[in-house]
Amino acid sequence: MKEKIQEKFKVLFGVPCDVYASAGRINLIGEHTDYNGGYVLPGAIDKGIMAGIAPNGTDLVKVFSIDYNEYAQFGLEEEDKPEQQWARYIFGVCRETIKRGGTVKGFNAVFCGDVPLGAGLSSSAALESTFAFALNDIFGNGFDLFELARIGQSTEHNYCGVKCGIMDQFASCFGKAGYLIRLNCKTLEYQYFPFNYEGYKMVLVDTCVKHELASSAYNKRRESCENALAAIRKRHPDTETLSDAKRIWLEEVKAEIPSEDYLRAEHVIGEVQRVLDLCDALERKDFETVGELMYQTHFSLSRLYEVSCEELDFLNKVARKCDVTGSRVMGGGFGGCTINLVKEELYDQFIRTAIDLYAKKFGRAPKIYDIVSSDGARKL
Ligand code: GLA
Repeated sequence: MKEKIQEKFKVLFGVPCDVYASAGRINLIGEHTDYNGGYVLPGAIDKGIMAGIAPNGTDLVKVFSIDYNEYAQFGLEEEDKPEQQWARYIFGVCRETIKRGGTVKGFNAVFCGDVPLGAGLSSSAALESTFAFALNDIFGNGFDLFELARIGQSTEHNYCGVKCGIMDQFASCFGKAGYLIRLNCKTLEYQYFPFNYEGYKMVLVDTCVKHELASSAYNKRRESCENALAAIRKRHPDTETLSDAKRIWLEEVKAEIPSEDYLRAEHVIGEVQRVLDLCDALERKDFETVGELMYQTHFSLSRLYEVSCEELDFLNKVARKCDVTGSRVMGGGFGGCTINLVKEELYDQFIRTAIDLYAKKFGRAPKIYDIVSSDGARKL
């Protein structure tokens, strides 16, 4: 990928470039907890985005996307927002850097990636983090990795319409090969956990469906959580985030909030505890408990948070049938992948069965990705 980018850059712009990269992410557990101040357990993977960049001495950004085979050009003022969706991510990163007092001048860029789009592996965070890291380095802004992650997150909020949490951008900035990261999304304290499951394999099964309106449904989930928190705060004013709420406090307000908001909050409160329990189990190498917690999360995301879909629920059931240790929908939901923890000796049989049954039911095969842990944002 690196050589391809360097060659294309030379052809288009006639000069050499520096090359930067960042990664997509998995998340073992802790879903829809990040924007509720809870815990998550993500890690960077070997599928990512790579970009060749060099300043061009003008006020314009000129970018070529190898994957879309499209060129975009834009200025750096707010009114210069480009048409193409992919270019908006880069524009947003420039604007958010500038808003924080950083310098961004005109530059040329060529980029490509291998994160499957719409699979819940956060290709957009990989794109944002690559550019946030590169611009910070090239223009000497000196922002730390936390700020670079926030630049990516604000890009989603202000230029792409998704009110996401910090997990994806955090993982693609802080990711380290061989580790998952337990992050407290309220305090941003984090701890690396060895990505080491002797005797097991971790595999993603991609439904290859992406449901329409996923981003508006996502924002709606966030609103429900805010409503539930507001009701709880009336009785317990010191509750900073929904993750701080006790289950009994939620019961107290049950009659005061829509049942939908109650269910969403029930998921969040349960999920925060599951991350902690799973991390304890990981330390004991108790993979049976790890897996059981993954199944519990799937149930909760499907029934309480309602971000699963027929295809994901189907794959989850197939996993159970094949004695897969743990399986659940991963990421924002509404399509994308399941993440599966499976004993090595059961792996082949599981993959064969999943492909076969899914194809029979839905008329197309799911895609399979073995997970390889990797580094996050970096200069190559
Ligand atoms: C998406 C968002 C994240 C997080 C997950 C769900 O990936 O970008 O911030 O909320 O969904 O856990």
